[in-house]
Amino acid sequence: MNLEDLARLYAAHVAHLQSKYAEALTAAGYDAVVIHSGSLKKRTEFDDQYWPLRATPHFQHWLPLDEPECALVVAGGKKAKLVWLRDGSFWEKPAAQETDHWLARFDIVHVKTPEEAKAQLPGKRTAFVGEDRARAAGWGFAEADVNPAGLAQTLDQLRVTKTAYEIMCLAEANRRAARGHDAVAQAFRSGDASELELHLLYLRVTGQDDPETPYKNIVALGENAATLHHIKYGRKSPGAPGAQALLLDAGATFQGYCSDITRTFVKGAGAAASAFGSLVASVEHFQKKLCTDVAIGNEYQALHEEAHRQVGVSLREAGVTTLSVDEAVAGGVTRAFFPHGLGHSLGLQCHDVGCALVKPKAENPFLRNTTTIALGQVFTIEPGIYFIDALLAGVKEGPHAGAIDWTLVGELGKMGGVRIEDDVVVTGPAEVRNLTREFLP
Ligand code: GLY
Ligand code: MN
Repeated sequence: MNLEDLARLYAAHVAHLQSKYAEALTAAGYDAVVIHSGSLKKRTEFDDQYWPLRATPHFQHWLPLDEPECALVVAGGKKAKLVWLRDGSFWEKPAAQETDHWLARFDIVHVKTPEEAKAQLPGKRTAFVGEDRARAAGWGFAEADVNPAGLAQTLDQLRVTKTAYEIMCLAEANRRAARGHDAVAQAFRSGDASELELHLLYLRVTGQDDPETPYKNIVALGENAATLHHIKYGRKSPGAPGAQALLLDAGATFQGYCSDITRTFVKGAGAAASAFGSLVASVEHFQKKLCTDVAIGNEYQALHEEAHRQVGVSLREAGVTTLSVDEAVAGGVTRAFFPHGLGHSLGLQCHDVGCALVKPKAENPFLRNTTTIALGQVFTIEPGIYFIDALLAGVKEGPHAGAIDWTLVGELGKMGGVRIEDDVVVTGPAEVRNLTREFLP
């Protein structure tokens, strides 16, 4: 990572935001917006502990600062003002910033209390963006000016296509996560570590504390991979010789930007290991193909539907079903094996919201990307095939039960499921840059 390049691209990124915000404010009828970084939330009402801050994404779009009770004042055309709360607490101290090149891009005012911050904020025709409505009210904002719908939607959409600076950050987040994936894959292959041990190894190698990861690591051995977000790590080593599988879905952050990567590994000998290994290879094969199918102007939802056809092909080739691809898709069988969406927009939020402003079709309820693919979008491509008892029970009771090899499903089910996930940037008419495969096979 070349910090000079980062600083140069960041300057262009801020200039881009300045002009886009000026347009958005004019369109929404405001002169300025105050973006609140966020407030600490109590873990419970019954004690005095707080969750770590997840800064407001609109705030981090401008700067890689994740401290509570800061305000960024953006007024069309002017240098933005950062009102930075430094409360002098002797209980806790903010983390040191990894970079400081961004400081020069703001007029910075330090304050000791939110009340002092209020004096630094503009008056009329100003919107407030942030979660803390009590803070907004305390600063004198009327309810109607807090996250006003038109402005909020424009700002969410603005985060969908990334600048060169953001892509550099996302690439770095992928590079950092790849180190963890490599180390965990090696530990899985050569040892007998528990899920918790693999999770801790991932944190150590990627240099992250648990709350700093973009989302809670998913570390699933064997049938636990059938729980899509398996985050209650087993404490025991699997111990058993024979076939074993690991699904690792884990990322890293850099300057607030996330990576989101999944790999599935298999070890051991025997028919089950070999059949599951073939299934992993098959999902990996069509996952790579889907990445190359990305084309500007096409619907992401069409790619999701193609993924369902590919799941149908894989299930048939594996001998799980005798149904044709059309029958498996139309009969809802592929949905039982692949219940989630093909992917989501990625940026400052692991599930960036700007690509999910339109509802998907009824048959794709969990799809989080319903956009027409456009230059500069960054999203994940993450198909999977799982053996989830509750969903398979529906197939067993349905008209296609006789077309499934339930003995094979039972054997493969001991290894839970497969997911393969990469982060891609749309770089040309029918071209992506795969940020993940720059660092991982
Ligand atoms: N990596 C978790 C998810 O995309 O839901
Ligand atoms: Mn994901």
